[in-house]
Amino acid sequence: MDFPLFHLDFMGDRLLIAIIAIVHVIINHALAVGFIPIVTWFEFRGYNESKTNPEEGKKWDELAYKFMFVAFVITTSIGALTGVGIWFSAALISPNGIGSLIRVFFGAWFTEWIIFVLEVVFVMIYFLTWKKSRKSRKAKQRHITVGVALSIFSWLTMAIIVGILGYMMDTGSWTGNQTLVDGFFNPIYLPQLLFRTPLAFVMGGSVALLLTVFYLKDKTEFRGKVFKNISIWMFLWTPHVLSAGVFYYYKIPDLMVGNIPVAVATQQFQNWYDYLMYFLIATIIVSMLTAIWAGLVPNRTSKVLLIIPIIAAILTLGWFERVREFIRKPYVIEDYMYSNLIRVEDYPLFKEEGILKHSTFVSTNEVTEENKSEAGKNVFLIACSRCHTTNNLNSIVEKFEKLFMKEGELLDKQEILNYVPVMHKGRYYMPPFPGNGEEVDALADYVIDLQNNPQFLEGAQSGGVSISPISTYMKNKE
Ligand code: HEC
Repeated sequence: MDFPLFHLDFMGDRLLIAIIAIVHVIINHALAVGFIPIVTWFEFRGYNESKTNPEEGKKWDELAYKFMFVAFVITTSIGALTGVGIWFSAALISPNGIGSLIRVFFGAWFTEWIIFVLEVVFVMIYFLTWKKSRKSRKAKQRHITVGVALSIFSWLTMAIIVGILGYMMDTGSWTGNQTLVDGFFNPIYLPQLLFRTPLAFVMGGSVALLLTVFYLKDKTEFRGKVFKNISIWMFLWTPHVLSAGVFYYYKIPDLMVGNIPVAVATQQFQNWYDYLMYFLIATIIVSMLTAIWAGLVPNRTSKVLLIIPIIAAILTLGWFERVREFIRKPYVIEDYMYSNLIRVEDYPLFKEEGILKHSTFVSTNEVTEENKSEAGKNVFLIACSRCHTTNNLNSIVEKFEKLFMKEGELLDKQEILNYVPVMHKGRYYMPPFPGNGEEVDALADYVIDLQNNPQFLEGAQSGGVSISPISTYMKNKE
């Protein structure tokens, strides 16, 4: 392990990334990728309409501007902050994972960064020059062009990131050639992009419906028209969510079979996976019904009704991301690096000589009778702390207690010693134990110690950093 380890012992490290990333993806899909095209389309409608009916043209334009206000405020604040937050949290929690991804995808991320900067520029221009653009038809045309560019660029940033997400799940032909193109166009890239795109469009439509009720309180004929237009939009995109969802659903298990060695695990995977399908079907039905209802009886749609498809889509997207993360395990990059940040190819050496010997930021580099618990703590940090806490959320002690403890007794060390070397066999989402026998022993002592005497485990951010006594790091500094 070449990095000092950041660790949050109260909530677990995974949850930090998960919360930030889910908020980000919801905002990105519902208010950028899926929503900006509707804003631009409505602005264009206004422009078109104003040739024959200036009064109504103005109304379309005004509504589009109000939509854009919401998108602008949320995407440039929470959206942008959570985007940076993903970088911060992922780099803290999974430095080796991010490091490897940057090495493979430098070109992709650099391109994405340029596109993102341009996207920000377009957002600024689009929102801030809206009022000025009303001065002339020429100005309006130019303004609409910016909206189109913004829509395309929003989609492009997603289309690039999806390549990296897919690669983490299935590296495809990258394993052989190790080129950017092989990694980017991995087997999961297209199914995932095809799925996210219409889902984002449907989410954008749901948001537009809800905002319309807020902005157009009177049940006018114009409001009916707006509803009808958004309904058609949702009606057109929802079937694509279904077909892309089914494509994804059947594509993934084939690719993942190699990752799932045992029947029990396959069963669990299947359960998670089936839930995804139920969520998806529910979202499709709710979105379709809402679209039909809002289109046919716009005057009988209420805010409460219109919140339902948004919640359904958020739950589906949230579950989709959860399943995606789940089926990626035990790897952070499939077949290359485990979620404990240790490369597959380093395992034989570490299992033979011990992981402590090959780690830079540890207080002990070998297990002795005197330092056992301290060594065990180091082993826990390296091998388990990316996913478990000591005594809190997803607590390691509780996990062992549930497995092995009999009423009123303490944990039995032998059972831990038997379990750890084969832990990856029963629970395929956990990486194999990366160290040698003495390190299993030290870990077992540490866990038992934690059960008798719960201690909060501080990460490097608060507990400070130790450097291995045999590390060449300090010597090089001198
Ligand atoms: C990649 C993430 C990850 C790593 C690394 C990891 N675990 Fe787990 N572990 C999990 C998850 C997820 C569960 C299941 C949690 C649940 O079902 O609530 C789990 C469950 C367990 C269980 C209970 C298993 C069962 O059958 O109920 C034990 C025991 C356990 N882990 C021990 C360890 C030990 C010891 C280490 C370090 C050597 C470790 N884990 C490393 C993710 C991980």
